[in-house]
Amino acid sequence: MSETLVAKDVDLFYGASQAVKRASILLRRGEIAAITGPSGSGKSSLLYCLAGVLPASQGEIRFEGRPFNELDDDELSTLRRDRFGFVFQYGELLPELTVEENAALPLRLAGQRKRAALAAAGEVLGRLGLSELRERRPSQVSGGQSQRVAVARALVHRPAVVFADEPTGSLDSANASAVLDEFLTLARSQGTAVLIVTHDPDVAARADSRYSMVDGVLTTQGPVGS
Ligand SMILES: Nc1ncnc2c1ncn2[C@@H]1O[C@H](COP(=O)(O)OP(=O)(O)O)[C@@H](O)[C@H]1O
Ligand SMILES: [Mg+2]
Repeated sequence: MSETLVAKDVDLFYGASQAVKRASILLRRGEIAAITGPSGSGKSSLLYCLAGVLPASQGEIRFEGRPFNELDDDELSTLRRDRFGFVFQYGELLPELTVEENAALPLRLAGQRKRAALAAAGEVLGRLGLSELRERRPSQVSGGQSQRVAVARALVHRPAVVFADEPTGSLDSANASAVLDEFLTLARSQGTAVLIVTHDPDVAARADSRYSMVDGVLTTQGPVGS
């Protein structure tokens, strides 16, 4: 089964205001899908629904064939922790932890022993060119490095899907482009599907499939090159 995440006719309301209107999406194993659209169009809201963070008001979301609404809260949080990864605009590293401890966090939360978790984190950090920074705190690394650490943390547990919400929105364009290249290359090398929200048309052009969102309505733009 190559369908990883499927959403059908998802609505999301905040009170009386509808942020997501009958959104449908199909994400295959290892697929990179990009969502573009103006600010306030509902991209983050949709991502939170698809990641099981916000419950959809209507519609169905299935991960590996199982509808979210058949999972209880514990099952859903275990799913998010073990099978999903997240990258946000500012990286959102924990300031008290070192770079390697930040990157190892998903493995520690899943119960892996410290030594094994740090070893796995070290390997991913190495692939992102961050080996030298392992013992630094987030305050002691640059913005681009910190986003790379966030990428390492999102991928370290080899999740099925990474949700990335404008993951390089805080970086200058050269840095953003380098970090995105490394992120997508690493995700592809481990078969992780990526759903990425971005303002950047160049990023969207690198995806396998593209969507745009306007006023809560998600439209597929089909495979790149079609
Ligand atoms: N927690 C919230 N409560 C109420 N309204 C919200 C909330 N989060 C977002 N919104 C509204 O939902 C709409 C979509 O927001 P959002 O999903 O953040 O869009 P985007 O990520 O495309 O900028 C906007 O009108 C926004 O003001
Ligand atoms: Mg947003």
